Amino acid sequence: MVDVAAPDEAEILGTAVTASGLAAEAPVKIPVERYTSPEFAQLEYERLWPKVWHVACTVDHVANPGDWFEHRLGPYSVLLVRGDDGVLRGFQNVCRHRGNPIALGSGTEARELRCPYHRWAWDLTGKLREIPSRRGFGPISNDDLPLIPVRVDSWARLVFVNLDVHAEPLADWLEGIPDDIAWANLEEFRGTYSTVTPVNCNWKVVNEGFSETYHVQGLHREMLGSIDDVNSPQRIWDRHSASYQPYGVASPRLGRNVDDQTVWDSFVVTQGGRMGPDHTEPGPAPAVPDGQTLQDVIAQKIRDHQATQGVDLSGYDTAQITHLNQYNLFPNTTVLISAELFTVLTARPGAHPDEGELATIHLRRMPSADAPPTTPVHVTVPMDQADFGFVLNQDFSVIATMQAGLRQPGFTHVWLSGEECRIINMHRHLERSLGLAPGGWTPVESGSANGPGPAR
Ligand code: FES
Ligand SMILES: [Fe+2]
Repeated sequence: MVDVAAPDEAEILGTAVTASGLAAEAPVKIPVERYTSPEFAQLEYERLWPKVWHVACTVDHVANPGDWFEHRLGPYSVLLVRGDDGVLRGFQNVCRHRGNPIALGSGTEARELRCPYHRWAWDLTGKLREIPSRRGFGPISNDDLPLIPVRVDSWARLVFVNLDVHAEPLADWLEGIPDDIAWANLEEFRGTYSTVTPVNCNWKVVNEGFSETYHVQGLHREMLGSIDDVNSPQRIWDRHSASYQPYGVASPRLGRNVDDQTVWDSFVVTQGGRMGPDHTEPGPAPAVPDGQTLQDVIAQKIRDHQATQGVDLSGYDTAQITHLNQYNLFPNTTVLISAELFTVLTARPGAHPDEGELATIHLRRMPSADAPPTTPVHVTVPMDQADFGFVLNQDFSVIATMQAGLRQPGFTHVWLSGEECRIINMHRHLERSLGLAPGGWTPVESGSANGPGPAR
């Protein structure tokens, strides 16, 4: 079996396409070892994770001088801390004495960063300032042993880190996304809470579950009454991609004559809370004024509910409120945005390819961009206690079981359709990051089959 790119793959990857608008001439096959092999996970630890910008938290998690937050990504741990000068800095979370992590968790009002083991201490800029019983070390300069810095930057209230201090600027890394979503005025949002849930699957299983709408007709059938999952535009820049999904209209998969009651029931069941607490149970569809659509009525109800929170959405039209803008940031982050909604889902690697973490960050639009910082709650939520709402809970049901399927010995490849072009694009960039041939899972320089891995 030879794995090659589908003939029309270049066309798919270089073009704006609808959710199911292109028929591929051949499927794209991805070897399952990318999800199961410890050697492959090791390759990711070495060549991917230390080189990419990735989301850690919101600015609000570390808003004040002395605030600090530990960000973990697989084996890596970064300590974010805001200095007395107001600058947010990041350091590899390791003591320069004998390697103990300096701090775990998060906190406020730090005056220094002091290792609990032998009490070496650094100031909030990372400069060493105290070594207990210093004489025993002989000549040693504080300038020789600063904390090891990492790159830190922010966009849209999100704090990004990169262990590679020579990485390209975050603004370049994000490609066209900030311009694409500029209309949403994301600077008006503030963090409300964030979660981490350990999952028993590879990080790519989590990530890919948020990288296509093909599964709506399978896993989220209740959504079909209120999403156009067929004509949703998809867009691919280079490493990142997007999907723009209209809600408040029925899926073409249900045929042409879907009544408003069906659309209403579906919207209420799957995301009625966006219209306020009165719309979480199905009931009679509201009247639709002449010249409007049910989608317009839904948008107005969301505006009305936000107004009760002091948020004015009158400047946002029906599409900006009812469409979900889903950005897939290479390699592991999904950003969900509509006029009043801003949620970030991040898939993180675990210690083993069968393990990972789903991290979520939830933000809320404030009355203005001048709103003061919030104090987000950050919690670990066990998988069996995670409840993220009707639709995400359905996604969780797959996250909980998928790795067992991938482990079956007869299963050799994941097969991808043009409809899943954002996943294909992620794998093509993964190949570049890891030094693999297309369709391979071992590095080109060491693979026995020049990339595709051992022959089957
Ligand atoms: S390991 Fe940190 S002070 Fe010794
Ligand atoms: Fe889903």
